[in-house]
Amino acid sequence: MNPELIRGLLYIVASIFFIFGLKMLSSQATARRGNLVSAVGMLIAVVTTVTAMEDIRWFWVVFGVGLGCVVGVLAARLVKMTAMPEMVGLFNGFGGLASLLVGWSEYHGKWAASGTLSLFTTIAIFLTVLIGAVTFSGSMVAYGKLSTLITGRPVLYKRQNLVNAFVLGALAGLGVLFCVQKLDQLSSAGHALVYVELIAIIVLALILGVLSTIPIGGADMPVVICLLNSYSGLAACAAGFVIGNNVLIVSGSLVGASGIILTRIMCKAMNRSLANVLFSGFGSATSAKAGGYQGQANPIAASDAYLILEAARNVVFVPGYGMAAAQAQHAVRELGELLRSNGAEVRYCIHPVAGRMPGHMNVLLAEANVPYEMLVEPQDINPTMEMVDVAIVIGANDVVNPAAKEDQASPLWGMPIIEVDRARTCIVLKRSLNPGFAGVDNPLFFKPNTRMLFGDAKASVAALVSEFKQ
Ligand code: TAP
Repeated sequence: MNPELIRGLLYIVASIFFIFGLKMLSSQATARRGNLVSAVGMLIAVVTTVTAMEDIRWFWVVFGVGLGCVVGVLAARLVKMTAMPEMVGLFNGFGGLASLLVGWSEYHGKWAASGTLSLFTTIAIFLTVLIGAVTFSGSMVAYGKLSTLITGRPVLYKRQNLVNAFVLGALAGLGVLFCVQKLDQLSSAGHALVYVELIAIIVLALILGVLSTIPIGGADMPVVICLLNSYSGLAACAAGFVIGNNVLIVSGSLVGASGIILTRIMCKAMNRSLANVLFSGFGSATSAKAGGYQGQANPIAASDAYLILEAARNVVFVPGYGMAAAQAQHAVRELGELLRSNGAEVRYCIHPVAGRMPGHMNVLLAEANVPYEMLVEPQDINPTMEMVDVAIVIGANDVVNPAAKEDQASPLWGMPIIEVDRARTCIVLKRSLNPGFAGVDNPLFFKPNTRMLFGDAKASVAALVSEFKQ
């Protein structure tokens, strides 16, 4: 059979693996297998591509694969669960950088091979280096903000949008100049000028990535990471057009589309538009109630919290970033089991933006073997919240902040929350009355039905577990 045809068929097989893998990722029960299916698809794609290459330098292929495997395995094994968002940010950035380098090197390779570049190829190269560079530098800023290497606060200055628009305009102008050149009709000075244009495009795109990410606050970084993930897919897709590789076009489009869908889901969960996330500088102003909400918080000891829980027949756990920080998920599962054997109905309610990345809490609870069927959606639990005897908030803050529905001046106004304030009793496990990631004070702590169990979440849950065991 024609080798070209076999390659095309194998690319279709790889694409089918990607699509089924993605589909399986949408459910916790099949997510692990989905990951594996996608990885097999990628293996088929890589092997098919590499074996079709002429004059292949095997040393570099083996070296690259070996180095990538070592770095990937070490990173996956060593990274802390709480540092996952940063790692995803780094991966996106390197995806963008890889596309940028492919576009840049193909400019040299294709030109050397044919003495000119078609309009189609120059446009594809322009888009590849542009999106790749924005993704790379934007992801590095997102990584810096999430890992607190740089300030998580939005960096705002006068005429910021004007500066960004100017950089964007300069890029568009340079892009047109770069794409319309007829390289075979140019003198060597003309060639040098085109190359300067390419370098200027790369530099300006790197600057644009930084400029467009610094005004976004740390609390919105997970949304930005998803958006950058989408960009990295688009850069790969453009690179696929540059090198004429169908499977790269397909996989890049899948990443681009799924990244943008996830971005939309998260914006919806916060009741904000993408434009608001990107341009509002959310988190720069202090809470509308600058002096904080007034009132008396009611602290509770683990021994007293146990008495409330012991009598409860209907309990809902609401985990947040603090559960991840404390690594309390196993203790939480154990407490859930004890409550169930005490006759209570136990459920876990996860807000879509709880934690620091999409699915953060789902991953932790799955790791602790909490059965999927015990998870409930906020929209399903909220209407019946009055029937809940105890809502236990484990290190969640913004996602349970009632200011979102009580205080029109609050930056969180309109954000869908888990309405734990309407449960008969709400026990909040955290270390202090400090605000959450969004920096907004939380009136929940001062409600008459709220009890504050101060301390590290894992230690507090362990104390409750030991009370039950005694
Ligand atoms: P946060 O509002 O950030 O609150 C976490 C709380 O955990 C903090 O108030 C902190 O209080 C507590 N905490 C930290 N370490 C702890 C420990 N060891 N033991 C006990 N408590 C601890 O978290 P959330 O409710 O999960 O909300 C997530 C935030 O991220 C929201 O602002 C959301 O908009 C934003 N965000 C998330 C996403 C995704 S996809 N996850 C996307 C966009 C934005 P203490 O310091 O007092 O202990």
